[in-house]
Amino acid sequence: MSRHPVRIAPSILSADFAALGAAIAAAEKGGADLIHVDVMDGHFVPNITIGPPVVKSIKRVARVPLDVHLMITDPDKYAEAFVQAGADMLSVHVEVLPHLHRSVTFIKSLGVKAGVVLNPSTPVVALEEIAADVDFVLVMSVNPGFGGQKFIPKSLQKVAAVRAMLDRAGNTSTPIEIDGGIDLSNIARAIAAGVDIVVAGSAIFNTPDPVAATRALKDAAAVAS
Ligand code: DX5
Ligand code: ZN
Repeated sequence: MSRHPVRIAPSILSADFAALGAAIAAAEKGGADLIHVDVMDGHFVPNITIGPPVVKSIKRVARVPLDVHLMITDPDKYAEAFVQAGADMLSVHVEVLPHLHRSVTFIKSLGVKAGVVLNPSTPVVALEEIAADVDFVLVMSVNPGFGGQKFIPKSLQKVAAVRAMLDRAGNTSTPIEIDGGIDLSNIARAIAAGVDIVVAGSAIFNTPDPVAATRALKDAAAVAS
């Protein structure tokens, strides 16, 4: 059982980039709680997406907070630019940050929620020393880089392990986010494992009706919570 109302964060990675305003409006109409923005640099992941100017434009039209997921090799260098562009939540990958405590402290000092992200092959213990300091944890349930990949089932055990670790650190209300391959077939299992924020890209934007698809995930989350 999840402790908080589960939030749905549609990822615009699978939306039509020429019509992001319409995509965001549709997701919000369907009940989106956040908009998940995937930033890729072609170094940390083998794909390139968007930067601060696009986030700034999205911020003008979005009514819900922006959850910006940095899949870049140098998040310390760019965090401030994304906050200025309008990020409300900013998540950075553990795999690229040797001074994670400094990075998380810096992001929090910018006045936004600081999240840390674990790739599928990164062990939970990598967060042990920072567990009391993070605002949220993002568990990747695919290898980052692309939308529409297959969900990795072992991610559910990882979610449960992260929950236990956060609780041990006294961070009992810190939400866990899951990202990758989530759809109506597995959302209930993710929530049962302890997920509080559900990212979904292709399950929303690769359908003919993103409003209905968002609403269906939202309803499924409500039933599972
Ligand atoms: C993957 C991204 C995800 C992606 C999820 O690197 O971080 O946010 O958009 O897309 P789906 O839901 O299609 O797996
Ligand atoms: Zn993402």
